[in-house]
Amino acid sequence: MSTTEVKTLRVVVLISGSGSNLQALIDGVATGDLPVEIVAVISNRPDVFGLTRAANAGIPTALLDHKGFANREAFDQELMSTIDAYDPGLIVLAGFMRILTAEFTQHYLGRMLNIHPSLLPKFQGLHTHQRAIDAGESQHGVTVHFVTAELDGGPAIVQAVVPVLPNDDAGLLAKRVQRQEHVIYPLAIKWFAQGDLKMVDGKAELKGELLPACGYQIKANEP
Ligand code: GAR
Repeated sequence: MSTTEVKTLRVVVLISGSGSNLQALIDGVATGDLPVEIVAVISNRPDVFGLTRAANAGIPTALLDHKGFANREAFDQELMSTIDAYDPGLIVLAGFMRILTAEFTQHYLGRMLNIHPSLLPKFQGLHTHQRAIDAGESQHGVTVHFVTAELDGGPAIVQAVVPVLPNDDAGLLAKRVQRQEHVIYPLAIKWFAQGDLKMVDGKAELKGELLPACGYQIKANEP
């Protein structure tokens, strides 16, 4: 490799389910929009469609079923060994529904991203769409953030805002939010791959500029 050649970012994606965000990344790589290599997809649940999507794209997969481990620490240790064997520069949580130990988050600090279906810091945790409707919110959305020890609490990178419409139920709202997920996750990963996005002193910076607490905000122009 010559000194001017840039190494492609190696990405490991962690999933627990359908993998529609994973698919958006696979598609981005295929079209050349996303300058990364997805070197492995790891699931903590067997038989999820995300594993099929990875296999269809020719990406190596691993299954690490959390039910086979005595405790969270033992699972996270094995997960770290499995991830690190692929020597990734970035870990992407794409619908990975596990609470992570502080040791795990510390090990990947500044090089692990998550996507959460709410306008963080609102609605951390589960059932975010129903909770946004119940709270009478007029706007809802999705956040990509760096992962820290605090659940859904790391510095925000990018948020997409969608309207909550009068006849919405959780399913309709989830679909509207997910369309934006598939836009902003590839975008954030592209920024990271280009070296434009960094976590510095616990804060997210884009091109050397501190991002606002909500991250870079995008208002979706489709209802
Ligand atoms: C996505 O909507 C993502 O935002 C959410 O899980 C879904 C996974 O969908 N993540 C969380 O709730 C994390 N707290 P996918 O498997 O189709 O990408």
